Amino acid sequence: MAKVYPAGELRLENVGEEVTVHGWVNNRRDLGGLIFIVLRDRSGLLQVAIDPRDNPEAHAVASDVRNEYVLKITGKVRPRPEGTVNDKLPTGRIELVPATLEVLNAAKPLPFQVNDNAEVDELQRLRYRYLDLRRPFMQRNMIIRHRITKFMRDYLDERAFLEIETPILIKSTPEGARDYLVPSRVHPGEFYALPQSPQQLKQLLMVSGMERYFQIARCFRDEDLRADRQPEFTQLDIEMSFIQQEDILQLLEGLYIGMCEAVRPDKKIKQTPFPRFTYVESMARYGNDKPDIRFGMELTDISDLVKDSEFKVFSGAIAAGGQVKGLCLPGVANYTRRELDGLVDYVKQFGAKGLAWLALDGESGSLTSKSPAAKFFTPEQLQAIAGRFADGAKGGDLLVFVADQPNVVANALGRLRNEMGRRLNVIDHNIFAFCWVVDFPLLEWNEDEKRWDAVHHPFTAPKPEHIGLLDTDPGAAKANAYDLVCNGYETAGGSIRIHQRDVQSKMFSLMSYSLEDAQARFGHLLNAFEYGAPPHGGVAAGLDRTVMLFADEENIRNVIAFPKTQSATDEMTQAPSPVDSRQLAELHIALALPPEKKQS
Ligand code: AMO
Ligand code: AMP
Repeated sequence: MAKVYPAGELRLENVGEEVTVHGWVNNRRDLGGLIFIVLRDRSGLLQVAIDPRDNPEAHAVASDVRNEYVLKITGKVRPRPEGTVNDKLPTGRIELVPATLEVLNAAKPLPFQVNDNAEVDELQRLRYRYLDLRRPFMQRNMIIRHRITKFMRDYLDERAFLEIETPILIKSTPEGARDYLVPSRVHPGEFYALPQSPQQLKQLLMVSGMERYFQIARCFRDEDLRADRQPEFTQLDIEMSFIQQEDILQLLEGLYIGMCEAVRPDKKIKQTPFPRFTYVESMARYGNDKPDIRFGMELTDISDLVKDSEFKVFSGAIAAGGQVKGLCLPGVANYTRRELDGLVDYVKQFGAKGLAWLALDGESGSLTSKSPAAKFFTPEQLQAIAGRFADGAKGGDLLVFVADQPNVVANALGRLRNEMGRRLNVIDHNIFAFCWVVDFPLLEWNEDEKRWDAVHHPFTAPKPEHIGLLDTDPGAAKANAYDLVCNGYETAGGSIRIHQRDVQSKMFSLMSYSLEDAQARFGHLLNAFEYGAPPHGGVAAGLDRTVMLFADEENIRNVIAFPKTQSATDEMTQAPSPVDSRQLAELHIALALPPEKKQS
């Protein structure tokens, strides 16, 4: 009996061996006599050479096969003849000469080719996802995903964590996004929710004494989708008892470093230990709380230099309690008027009223600028402004500024920084630039409802030294909360939790929940906290986003086997779909559809 091999694993060592392989016809070349079939299975590609003089039967079968036919081939491995070796292919030094060649199944012509990584319309890909998943890069992405989850499980198992599953049908409790609801048949008018995360259940597991829990958990959030968001996504969810924030940071840092070494040894981590930024520092330097630190081009405050200037756009904004910050865009002082207008329009999308610029010419060591705003500044002032930027702005650089309230400046310039980082090609794509963002504010004021909202979730603990601030200045209280960021993506987030009933009640009262309200929504957790809850904390890492980074993908759908579209549909199965009236009746549901739906 011939030994069964993965086709892509055969090598020179197998020469002379009688082997069986299974797979799909990746392509077929008929040289009018000799036929070459490249067979593909998950392990790779293998050339099969069929000579009518050696094996007329196999040749007859091979003459009729087409791309994507499923074959079983038994034969002998031989070295490729001189001059036909293909060094690009791991199996490129050998080929298989079939004794028997059997068609296990035929295939219709495919809606798109799967033997390359060519661009195909995404809706088409999603409609035929089972074919799309045959493509080499998608197979690679699934393999990377598997390696990552395997690494996570092993890493946590070695550190005494227990993998525990939590239910998918749970109680609807507000957690930020909108819930997906599931109607109950046996309890008319009542609903389960799909979990937005296992947050409360993992905290309950700490009360149960599990001490170290993890789960590769599916989460559901009915929110607006973006390139890095799915309505249904996966977290590596972790919770630990008797620990400090530092323990969780170390644990996760070790996990990500280990994963890089195991899965992408070709990539470099920019800096270890991962640098840490406070939330305030991250907002000030990068304009957001997920800084892409693969490149510099930091937001630079020039408010003190221009507060008295004749340029009213600047001085006026500062007088109104705002600030003026800028970016130094290297080497693009020669942007055309159109390109400059493009930048202005770009920041206007994000709330800026405009974008002022200074295009620097370096003449005899002193800077001049031809920009409209330049007339308001003396050469000395220009020099001082240029000197404010990291490494100093130089002739040939374009300085761009936004004057406004700090949140508007941060958002507009933070977005522009990321956009220009891409356009100016200053991003090193071979590195993982991890960092921590810590010391998030605990609460933010909700002006519409005149109450405080939890920035993360209501169970996040304030820093112990800030508990007093809950009574005096809640907005100033910082949380023991942290995010892990990589290349500008929020990859994980977590916090130390409140485990004392009085602090928890205080939080609820700041959020204007009455005691009855809190009891109705979170009673299970509040009650549990009265039976000896250990101090605990945790974190959740976005698995899909992690795989996306590790696979160099920019679209989260490319690392999920069966993802949803931007409008939360499944193109392959056509979900969501109407259900028949009997199903609705069983669930005690009557539809009240919007007019445009009624006609169809
Ligand atoms: P959070 O809401 O920050 O925290 O989520 C944790 C991580 O999950 C990923 N993520 C998503 N990925 C894809 N699509 C989405 N729609 C999506 N939403 C979030 C992100 C994020 O960093 N229970 C807390 C964690 C904790 O406190 O332990 C939680 O869910 O990478
Ligand atoms: P204006 O006085 O509105 O004609 O604007 C003069 C220049 O300043 C234009 O290039 C505007 O794009 C720019 N500008 C206007 N408002 C702001 C602002 N808030 N911050 C930065 N630049 C601005």
